This record gives sequence, structure tokens and C-alpha cells, in this order.
Amino acid sequence: MLINPSILSADFANLERDLQAIASADHAHVDVMDQHFVPNLTIGLPVVRRLAQVSPLPLDVHLMVEDADRWAPQYAEAGAASVTFHAEATQAPVRLARELRAGGVRAAVALRPATPVEPFLDLLAEVDMILVMTVEPGFGGQAFIEGTLAKVRRARAAVDAAGAATWIQVDGGVSRDTIGRIARAGANVFVAGSAVYGAADPAQEIAALRALAERPTTQA
Ligand code: DX5
Ligand code: ZN
Repeated sequence: MLINPSILSADFANLERDLQAIASADHAHVDVMDQHFVPNLTIGLPVVRRLAQVSPLPLDVHLMVEDADRWAPQYAEAGAASVTFHAEATQAPVRLARELRAGGVRAAVALRPATPVEPFLDLLAEVDMILVMTVEPGFGGQAFIEGTLAKVRRARAAVDAAGAATWIQVDGGVSRDTIGRIARAGANVFVAGSAVYGAADPAQEIAALRALAERPTTQA
């Protein structure tokens, strides 16, 4: 079970300090938005390059940008450990994933809530992770979309049936209230932005989320 806090909810004037605050997590989740694929604009290559140099954690870069075929490989070069592109923003997901892997990073494909996972279930060997978006991408602090859990379950069943090592990540509305049932549905990588950075003690929140993911009860 991996906990990847999203620095979208960090203080953008203090990113290095706020990366240190989550050093007990597994990766730092970095949301790159281009104001076209999503109606929000965050950071791009020059900032990600510097974050990779100062971060105590490997970077899990989530690209919410159009023309992923053009831009994603440059984030591999910028120092990301993992690069996630959106299925809706690429012409050739397999070619792109292969290019990313050849660049030495983990390659992942992200699905908006209304994008089916089925087209990718025969291609699990081509990607290191599937990101099931549990909100519409673009903003932190949105409510978890319950209907996305069925997609997580189908993805987990396919990964297990194939004996694949593909990680299943969820992003959006992950909190103490939702993480247990998301874990039971089969996710193993949890992105949390507002839950971690909105907490008085981010390290304590990471530990609490990890405990709930590892020991999901049958309730909630
Ligand atoms: C949303 C981003 C998320 C965001 C999640 O488009 O991809 O990573 O930071 O924020 P929370 O955890 O607050 O829902
Ligand atoms: Zn994200």
C-alpha cells in the first residue's frame, strides 16, 4: 500500500518545505495541468525539474495536459520516477508507454471517471500503473465519486487474473472516510491532497491513511 500525497494542496510558495513535510510517504504526487485538458493551470517542466532535485521522495507526475504524446517524455527527462498520461489525451498509449519506459521511468495511464478501463485490460503488460480518477480531474478538495469503485474492482480482478504487477492508483477524494472501501475494492496506491495538507500534522495523517489502507475494516 503506497501513500502519495498530492502537492496540489501544498503551499506553492513553499514547495520544498512542503515536500519535506511528507517525507514519510512513498512518492510525491505532482499534478501538471495545462488549462486545456482541465480548467486549471499549475506547474510545468522547469518547476518539476527543480522539484526532482530537492524532493526527499520520488516524483509521481500526473499529467493533465493535452497532446500527452508530445509532452510526457519530457517529464521523464525532467527527473520523474513515474509519468502518468491521460488515456483521453494520447493518440497512441502503447507507443507512449513504451517510450516512457525506454526513458527509465514507470509508465501509467489515467482514466477520467467516465472513461472505461476495459480497453486497457488486455494491455496490462504495457503499463506499470492504471490511475482510476475518483473525481473529475482539475481541482483538489472535491467529493469522491462512489461509482468509480466498480472500475477499481474490475481493474483489480483483471490484474490478479493476469498475474500482472500493475499498480492500481486512485486520485480524488481520498480521506480517512473513503480509503478503507477504496482499498477493499483493490487499489494499492492512494493519492491524497487536501486530506494530507489540510491536516494539522501531515506526517500523522499519512500514517493514519496508511493504517486504514492496510487494515481496511468491513465498515465504512
Ligand atoms: C485532481 C488531482 C488530484 C488532487 C486530489 O485533479 O489530480 O491529485 O490533488 O486532491 P484531493 O485529494 O483533495 O481530492
Ligand atoms: Zn493527481
